[in-house]
Amino acid sequence: MNKVKINKWRTFVIYFQVNSSRLYLVSILIYLCIQKITYVVIDKVNQSIKEIENFQFTTLEEVEKFRLKFLSRKGLVSQYFDEFKQLSGEEKRNVGKLMNQFKNLAESKFAELDESSGDSAVGQSGSELSDLTLPVNLGQVGSIHPLSIVRQRITEIFARMGFTTSEGPEIESDWYNFSALNFPENHPAREMQDTFYVSKGEKVEDDILLRTHTSNVQTRLMEHNKPPLRSIMIGRVYRNEAISARAHCQFHQVEGIYIDKNVSFRDLKDTLYHFAKEMFDKDTEIRLRPSYFPFTEPSAEIDISCFICKGDGCNICKHSGWVEIAGSGMVDPNVLINVGIDPEEYTGFAFGMGIERITMLKYGINDLRLFFDNDVRFLNQFVGA
Ligand code: DAH
Repeated sequence: MNKVKINKWRTFVIYFQVNSSRLYLVSILIYLCIQKITYVVIDKVNQSIKEIENFQFTTLEEVEKFRLKFLSRKGLVSQYFDEFKQLSGEEKRNVGKLMNQFKNLAESKFAELDESSGDSAVGQSGSELSDLTLPVNLGQVGSIHPLSIVRQRITEIFARMGFTTSEGPEIESDWYNFSALNFPENHPAREMQDTFYVSKGEKVEDDILLRTHTSNVQTRLMEHNKPPLRSIMIGRVYRNEAISARAHCQFHQVEGIYIDKNVSFRDLKDTLYHFAKEMFDKDTEIRLRPSYFPFTEPSAEIDISCFICKGDGCNICKHSGWVEIAGSGMVDPNVLINVGIDPEEYTGFAFGMGIERITMLKYGINDLRLFFDNDVRFLNQFVGA
């Protein structure tokens, strides 16, 4: 027998030549199949997107059905993602974006449905309106800042006594903040209020600064309005203080002024006495201690009886039974002359207090920094206050 020597490579080449057209056909078929799968996936996903967009519900059961259909373990989102995994790299790139869009839409729609089903009158059991006497779910409601609560309260109390509300600038000239208020240049009283200066003027009165108290509005008010005047001035003030539990470089004050004929020290005392009772407790007592302010003469510090321990002594009043709430006095004749009011005809009283201080006393807050930290654990305690 003739032995035919078979060359392996030759056999392969012949085999390949015979079968190559078949191989070609098979690969085209595989390619078309993958294309087809891609189109089917795109089509299905698009349809589901439409369905989600148009989804409306009337019962809680329908919301649950939505979750089961799209988001459960065997839901369409995971089903389509399983199919997606079988696509080639190129196909994945084409379909990937759509898949993510679909998944996000399903999730956000469900979150939306879940939330509104809580607000709606849909009953727990599903089908119809149930207990309408249940409390309404108001969702996340913020709270009014404690300083704003107290500010509002102060405004109301003084409004009932006939005080209007006035405002003035926080960036102020030396004239309105100091000079017109009888603080002469280089007077040690200026040292009491460590000041942020913005710019130097030619004269001291022209220096520009961040107001150190709301007393600047007194002078502006008296300059532009003729007595009788009765107004409170509330706002933010600034001092170059190290920040601690008891001091800050920014805080709020309320200033009050009453100018008319025959206004006396007794009016001052009565007004603040009434304020203290309204603000803290009807049994609150006040006492006046002699003090010094350049713009009032005589001047007094106002203390209230400690409404926490009722005079027995506690940490808040440092065991004295009294807490200081304001500075006050009769407006100095020099201040009246500076704003063009005749001190022989008119007299008046003025007072100023820190809103942070009043708020800390009212709510038993022991750290002033809490007002500016924006910590919701602190602020949430004032919901409904
Ligand atoms: N402006 C003063 C301060 O910030 C407070 C003050 C005291 C205001 C006496 C007044 C007043 O109107 O009469 O320390």
